[in-house]
Amino acid sequence: MHTLNKNDFGPDFRWGVSTAAYQTEGGHDADGKGLSVWDVFTRKKGNIFRNQHGNTACDFYRRYPEDLQLMQSLHIPNFRFSLAWPRIIPEGTGVVNTRGLDYYHRLIDQCLQLGIEPWVTLYHWDLPYALERKGGWTNRDVVGWFGEYAETCAQAFGDRVKHWMVLNEPMVFTGAGHFLGIHAPGRRWLKNFIPAMHHAAVCQAEGGRILRTHLPGARIGTTFSASSVQPLTESPRDSQAAVRVDALLNRLFLEPALGLGYPVQTLPFLNRVEKYWRSGDDRKLAFDFDFVGLQIYTREIIKHSWFMPFINADLVKAAKRRVPLTLMGWEVYPESIYQMLRQYAAYPRVKEIIVTENGSAFEDTLQEGRVQDDRRVAYLRDHIRQIKRARADGVPVNGYFVWTFTDNFEWAEGYRPRFGLVHVDFETQQRTVKDSGRWYQSLMEGRNLNFSPSG
Ligand code: FCB
Repeated sequence: MHTLNKNDFGPDFRWGVSTAAYQTEGGHDADGKGLSVWDVFTRKKGNIFRNQHGNTACDFYRRYPEDLQLMQSLHIPNFRFSLAWPRIIPEGTGVVNTRGLDYYHRLIDQCLQLGIEPWVTLYHWDLPYALERKGGWTNRDVVGWFGEYAETCAQAFGDRVKHWMVLNEPMVFTGAGHFLGIHAPGRRWLKNFIPAMHHAAVCQAEGGRILRTHLPGARIGTTFSASSVQPLTESPRDSQAAVRVDALLNRLFLEPALGLGYPVQTLPFLNRVEKYWRSGDDRKLAFDFDFVGLQIYTREIIKHSWFMPFINADLVKAAKRRVPLTLMGWEVYPESIYQMLRQYAAYPRVKEIIVTENGSAFEDTLQEGRVQDDRRVAYLRDHIRQIKRARADGVPVNGYFVWTFTDNFEWAEGYRPRFGLVHVDFETQQRTVKDSGRWYQSLMEGRNLNFSPSG
């Protein structure tokens, strides 16, 4: 028998759950909110699984009091959520919507009243559509627009919010949204990706500086998607392909923040950034973050490919490898979290790591008021154990947030993959705590969780 106990991580380790505005709030046109790129992207037929959208989502905009109470009843002490920029500044720049601010005031106050610590992400992908019409992330002016938004948020909420994250996974919103076109705003190719990447990287650091100026006592981080990348074979070509993909997935936004610049030696196509470069940008890209948020779900296996432009590498899908999979088609590979924690901690300027997302979607069935999601329990447990292992090796990883609290809108995949600890019936908005939610509750309560090594 093995045992997992929260106390193995010490009293200062932060346990929580993560969410994002567009995936949960709904209230898409409530109280003066402006349109976001996701409101518009989901309207176009064929973009999203079954043409679903986040207009109502989990109705968290109205149901947050009950949801936070449920969170408290599960003894979850930290809650990471994002602010919707178009709720606060509907046109992206200019007039502030006080009703939008009021909503977040109420949400933050309610968290604090319940003894739940709010962790706020400034940007989790819902750019105001009015800015997209001016070029959005591809327009250098986004640096000024984002700064104005960051300042508004710092001034409004900084007296109560002590933990901030500037961006959520810049690699994903630039890669999926500006190169592949499968996420909002649906832009494609390097002509969109390179400027979006550079402006996002500048905003990442600029947002940190603005928060620091207004809130000198706050803990300021940003979050990165991270995946262990391994070559399919030991051939030099596959190995080099894996090195390139690792640079793209794991180094592209971290290294400029650390003052190391973009990984242009490994990825020469990044030299095209020169076109968008302004003097002083090397300094502008760097910021001394208090913590780095890592969001780790799986690993990637890479083979060399002549067909993929710029990167000459391709992913070998998990479905082709006969490995355990989640509903997203992602391999279940808990060691990825350990490997990534080691890899990121090896940078001397990374001071502290918080796992700001980790979780899984499986086929859940609600039967007689119960969801027996044993595979999710095993997934969470095995990943948390890898974090313990990394801590034993001296990695400064001091927090873990499950993605996610309730089932919600999973971007291009719609409502099909359910990641929640709490099941949501999207017809009735009924919440049911899954077995995994009860399991996480037991962990939060400091109980010993016993399990056999195989199961
Ligand atoms: C991450 C996103 C988050 C969620 C999970 C499954 O990439 O940050 O919003 O969709 O994946």
